[in-house]
Amino acid sequence: MKKLIAITTLTLVTTSAVFAHSGVKDEHVLARMKGMSALSEDMKIIGGMAKGEAAFDAEAVNDALARMSEESARIEGLFETRADDPKSEARALIWEDFSGFTERADDLTKVTAGLSGTIQSEDDLGPLLKQVGKSCSTCHSDYRE
Ligand code: HEC
Repeated sequence: MKKLIAITTLTLVTTSAVFAHSGVKDEHVLARMKGMSALSEDMKIIGGMAKGEAAFDAEAVNDALARMSEESARIEGLFETRADDPKSEARALIWEDFSGFTERADDLTKVTAGLSGTIQSEDDLGPLLKQVGKSCSTCHSDYRE
């Protein structure tokens, strides 16, 4: 059941119009969307194993987590410039409360860095998805439309 909840969270987090950023002209907006898509791709790699669509591979999961911690450490820089685009889902609150926003990014960096290297069995995937998914959605619920 826990695993099911984690997978549901994952679907919520990674489901976005896949090419939501096609046609985005602002380079800052495009860069931050690409960063988010990279996070989402790594979540999907892990999610695919949790759903049994791919064989469990501890090393691949630990590598994905390491990439995610690096990507998430870039969030602050990617959002520093206040930029907008008709397709952007970023809320103005990001720049009104930038320290609150970067705290959420730091949380994801810490969670993913802390988990990277610890994954040993398939049973670790459910708790991982739950914890990381929560970190994504905590930021999205406040700072993304
Ligand atoms: C610190 C806040 C924050 C964290 C943490 C965060 N996101 Fe985001 N995410 C955003 C914001 C803000 C946007 C909207 C960006 C825009 O449209 O300009 C977004 C957009 C997205 C998008 C849509 C990208 C596109 O092409 O339009 C996806 C997918 C996404 N995030 C996945 C994730 C995943 C997966 C995680 C966790 C592993 C995550 N995000 C963590 C703030 C965050």
